[in-house]
Amino acid sequence: MPCSSMKAQSALICLLLLSRSQAFAQATFNWTSIPASSNLSWVECYSSPMQCTRLTVPLNYSSPNAGSVTLALARIPSPLNGTSSYRGPILINPGGPGGSGVEALSVQNSVPLISFFETDVERAAFDLGPDATDATATPNVLSSQWAHFQVMGHLAQDRDDGFLAHVTTDNVARDMLHIVEAHGQTQFGYWGVSYGTVLGATFASMFPDKVERLVIDGVLDMEGYYSTNWANQSLDTEKVLQEFFQGCFKAGPQACAFYDTSPAAISRNLVALYSKVIAQPAVAYSPSLPEYGIVDHAVLKSAIFNSLYIPYSSFSPLAQGLAALRKGNGSLLYQLSSALASEALAAIACGDGEKVTDNSATLEKYAETISNLSSFSDVVVSIRTLCSGWRIHPNNFKGSIEGSTSFPLLLIGNTADPATPLAGAKKTSKGFPGSVVLTQDSPGHTSFSIPSECTLGYVKQYFQNGTLPPAGTVCPVVGDLFPVASNVSAREEIQSRSPLRDVAEALTGIWPENAS
Ligand SMILES: *[C@@H]1O[C@H](CO)[C@@H](O)[C@H](O)[C@H]1NC(C)=O
Ligand SMILES: *[C@@H]1O[C@H](CO)[C@@H](O)[C@H](O)[C@H]1NC(C)=O
Ligand SMILES: *[C@@H]1O[C@H](CO)[C@@H](O)[C@H](O)[C@H]1NC(C)=O
Ligand SMILES: *[C@@H]1O[C@H](CO)[C@@H](O)[C@H](O)[C@H]1NC(C)=O
Ligand SMILES: *[C@@H]1O[C@H](CO)[C@@H](O)[C@H](O)[C@H]1NC(C)=O
Ligand SMILES: *[C@@H]1O[C@H](CO)[C@@H](O)[C@H](O)[C@H]1NC(C)=O
Ligand SMILES: *[C@@H]1O[C@H](CO)[C@@H](O)[C@H](O)[C@H]1NC(C)=O
Ligand SMILES: *[C@@H]1O[C@H](CO)[C@@H](O)[C@H](O)[C@H]1NC(C)=O
Ligand SMILES: *[C@@H]1O[C@H](CO)[C@@H](O)[C@H](O)[C@H]1NC(C)=O
Repeated sequence: MPCSSMKAQSALICLLLLSRSQAFAQATFNWTSIPASSNLSWVECYSSPMQCTRLTVPLNYSSPNAGSVTLALARIPSPLNGTSSYRGPILINPGGPGGSGVEALSVQNSVPLISFFETDVERAAFDLGPDATDATATPNVLSSQWAHFQVMGHLAQDRDDGFLAHVTTDNVARDMLHIVEAHGQTQFGYWGVSYGTVLGATFASMFPDKVERLVIDGVLDMEGYYSTNWANQSLDTEKVLQEFFQGCFKAGPQACAFYDTSPAAISRNLVALYSKVIAQPAVAYSPSLPEYGIVDHAVLKSAIFNSLYIPYSSFSPLAQGLAALRKGNGSLLYQLSSALASEALAAIACGDGEKVTDNSATLEKYAETISNLSSFSDVVVSIRTLCSGWRIHPNNFKGSIEGSTSFPLLLIGNTADPATPLAGAKKTSKGFPGSVVLTQDSPGHTSFSIPSECTLGYVKQYFQNGTLPPAGTVCPVVGDLFPVASNVSAREEIQSRSPLRDVAEALTGIWPENAS
């Protein structure tokens, strides 16, 4: 959108970032052509009005001369810069951990990268073990997964040149302050989703007087995160799966391909499908689809788990994939699955949290204890198993997560979020006097999973005018979990909406063309 269609009278720039490192780089922009500097020297990049810079920050803030890290930053400059309505920068973190802060704009990133493998081929060969993500299909998976991650921990430690001890969240919080100060400000706005809520809450605990506005959306249980026990992140996972069964039944056979005569019958059909692929994994091959492989228990589970994150756009295709799988064709279902990206997760989350000293016997016990949490409790077990191999434990900030902030926080939680239950937002809010929890009445991970005019309206008001929603506010969403097949446009509209864009446009009147 060109600057001429500016519609807002106030506001901000958006600085989009950020983590100290990125697991994967994309070759869409030559960042190395921008000189790294300790001041913010912005250059045009991507599509107008995007600007980029590379900022050098200390590797270790307690030893400023012991090396540096180069952060890749992108921004949408505010047209209000220089006017009295300008309110300073907003920083964004989209989750991860290790996810690219500028992912929304398809750009690549900070150096060094987190990678323990010398090539993609080496990584792929290591990941190809039988021990991917699934601890329930066969009894020995957990113990081999444990050994697998011990190997990875050794590899990371031996190949590290000293960087991995510095990728902790407290350092990223310090980076944020550093960026803002380089920008000539002392306070700033922040909007973080998912892992970005750990960063936001950590920042607010370390620098409570630097908060101008802070929104955290899809809030983790911070105690669980910093104690490397993620059980509390999974309290609502099963609720979302139930929404699939109920929604499919309600939608009927026209709109839900996996329909049956009751939610319970649909649930039973899914259990039967798990048994079927354990007995005989399905073939996933179609010349017209990008991904191919086999659908076994782990792949099926991964496809379902991923779908729980974005139900409004994925439940229909999931139902189609399940129906095809029942007939023996795994190709649609396979497209929805993905492997656990473990390198950045290990370095950041395992490094941040308390050291895990479990062996496979104690992990079995842990798995048993939390097995009634949800049918996806093995994902929680996997993270603890991953961390049991991790060997780099800096003496970083681990809480407590609380503080009297210079401006009250806005927390957002969905009624059924598979990875960050509403309880996480409520619990975190208790540590921050004056903060308010806004509830969005929808399944899915963070409010980004189904943009709500109501939620976005409150976010805009908060950033622009500092108005918090009344306590107890619940925002509805508009959208069908199973839009009728003919209503493709409804689904496409949901998929094309970007909350970031919506808010940035409202506050600054601009958004780069071609950006997501
Ligand atoms: C990127 O820019 C650097 C510095 O200008 C240059 O040395 C390098 O060849 C460029 N890389 C590509 C892929 O164009
Ligand atoms: C920023 O730093 C670079 C080198 O680090 C220097 O060349 C440039 O003049 C500086 N710009 C400003 C505005 O200070
Ligand atoms: C950072 O520097 C301080 C002061 O020299 C040192 O005590 C600390 O161990 C360093 N942190 C890491 C992770 O190396
Ligand atoms: C504001 O404008 C000045 C002068 O053009 C420029 O140096 C600075 O980078 C701009 N800041 C923002 C936040 O756009
Ligand atoms: C889960 O949350 C409850 C309630 O806040 C708390 O008592 C418990 O210690 C948490 N468990 C973990 C593993 O963080
Ligand atoms: C499986 O389904 C896909 C997508 O509908 C289709 O392209 C492919 O031909 C099917 N494969 C077989 C073996 O029927
Ligand atoms: C799981 O079982 C424990 C006792 O074994 C119980 O305290 C807890 O409430 C159960 N949780 C759920 C979600 O059913
Ligand atoms: C902020 O307050 C002004 C003045 O009351 C109002 O006109 C504007 O619509 C508000 N902005 C938002 C985003 O609510
Ligand atoms: C199509 O979807 C939109 C948005 O979800 C909804 O308002 C509309 O009623 C749907 N149309 C039909 C024919 O289902």
